[in-house]
Amino acid sequence: MMNDFLNVNDISFINGAYFLAAVLFIFSLAGLSKQESAENGVWYGIIGIAIALMATIINPSVTSFIYLFMAMIVGGAIGAYFALKVEMTQMPELVAMLHSFVGLAAVAVGYNSFLEHGILSGMLLNIHLVEVFLGVFIGAVTFTGSVVAFGKLKGLISSSPLMLPHRHKMNLLAGIICFVLMVHFVQQNGELSTLIAMTIIALIFGWHLVASIGGADMPVVVSMLNSYSGWAAAAAGFMLGNDLLIITGALVGSSGAILSYIMCKAMNRSFISVIAGGFGTEVSTNSNQDYGDFSETSADEVAHMLNNASSVIITPGYGMAVAQAQYPVNEMTKKLRDKGINVRFGIHPVAGRLPGHMNVLLAEAKVPYDIVLEMDEINDDFKNTDVVLVIGANDTVNPAAAEDPASPIAGMPVLEVWHAKQVIVFKRSMNTGYAGVQNPLFFKDNTNMLFGDAKDSVEDIVKGLN
Ligand code: TAP
Repeated sequence: MMNDFLNVNDISFINGAYFLAAVLFIFSLAGLSKQESAENGVWYGIIGIAIALMATIINPSVTSFIYLFMAMIVGGAIGAYFALKVEMTQMPELVAMLHSFVGLAAVAVGYNSFLEHGILSGMLLNIHLVEVFLGVFIGAVTFTGSVVAFGKLKGLISSSPLMLPHRHKMNLLAGIICFVLMVHFVQQNGELSTLIAMTIIALIFGWHLVASIGGADMPVVVSMLNSYSGWAAAAAGFMLGNDLLIITGALVGSSGAILSYIMCKAMNRSFISVIAGGFGTEVSTNSNQDYGDFSETSADEVAHMLNNASSVIITPGYGMAVAQAQYPVNEMTKKLRDKGINVRFGIHPVAGRLPGHMNVLLAEAKVPYDIVLEMDEINDDFKNTDVVLVIGANDTVNPAAAEDPASPIAGMPVLEVWHAKQVIVFKRSMNTGYAGVQNPLFFKDNTNMLFGDAKDSVEDIVKGLN
């Protein structure tokens, strides 16, 4: 057996390997925070996971390799299948599904750890029971919450928020009952029926918590569940006495919480209002307001305008992802830069449907990183720009957010494209964007609408640039 080669010193070897893996995970997160270093970040993560897996396999406490390898083959096959099949726009639902696995695993680890807690007594037993209880609670909430988030994103469950009467009071009551059950569980030195009762309440609580949140907020919820799954993994780490799981769980838990906060801030929503739920998808206000007329343009006219420009900013949004227009956009960018035109990209933090959505698409099409700028880096430059191309973006360039205090998106920071000399909006119709709010940008004197699928429109412009 492989573990016959190991002795006590090997335990410190394994701990050393876990420590190395943890450091690599931190490097990985740091690398992933910037486009230039993202590829290295992915490699640090892969090497870290490989080291952690090896250390786990050679751990002397592993007695049966058959089950371990079977689990790795099944898990690896499912992971590879979904990684190859999933579209970028389906990423949130894939992540939601993966979080449900983490939640379920935490529940299984909790029960296993409870049933096999051995000869613990006194304070050590109490600590262990609290770990088990919290691990199962967080895991169960994460499990059903993630299943509901997956169902909503996939369209299997209605995306409108479930508005049960007294829903906040019911959530509070569930929290209080679970706390009382935890005290009872510890006082009784661990009572299986109490653990089962709490698990049932936590499963219903997780389901209700996410069912009460509208589809519009689901990406924030997925990021929040990411955080929960991290804490569930950390709790499992405490139960198993596995330092790597504790560190990794804490990294995932805190990074998920920070990401949820950043997303809420970029959408001008309070984190509490998202978690409390009740914000729907169908926001439709000021639909009767008269914004005046809009002007239409053609691909040839835009090509001509671009030929005569010296500075261009492209602000992509969800429509670019839907149309898969990033490749012709890169081609157009190359042509314009070859003509000596200064072309840059302005990326809103919540453009698209998932964090970094636009950055990933542009990187995939090989747009140079150094011309892709964050909203805060480019917002002051619009006033000195000849042409702005708004490709499939809507809410993220809506002046109402900055100018109309009555707008549902009032206060959301946006790309202030309307300060440029000329703005071209690429979309298929006058339909609203994700927030369901009309966009006064379309009716401004310096804005022209270029209707049609974004990919076709950009390809036509590329032809016109030749
Ligand atoms: P949106 O406001 O969603 O607008 C996208 C626009 O693309 C639509 O107006 C649509 O108009 C157009 N479009 C769709 N398919 C197209 C195609 N094939 N060709 C051309 N145009 C097409 O986009 P945005 O500006 O990126 O804003 C993102 C929204 O999502 C924000 O409200 C944000 O709060 C929300 N959100 C984002 C995230 C993250 S993390 N990114 C998370 C949660 C929520 P037509 O139908 O007329 O073509």
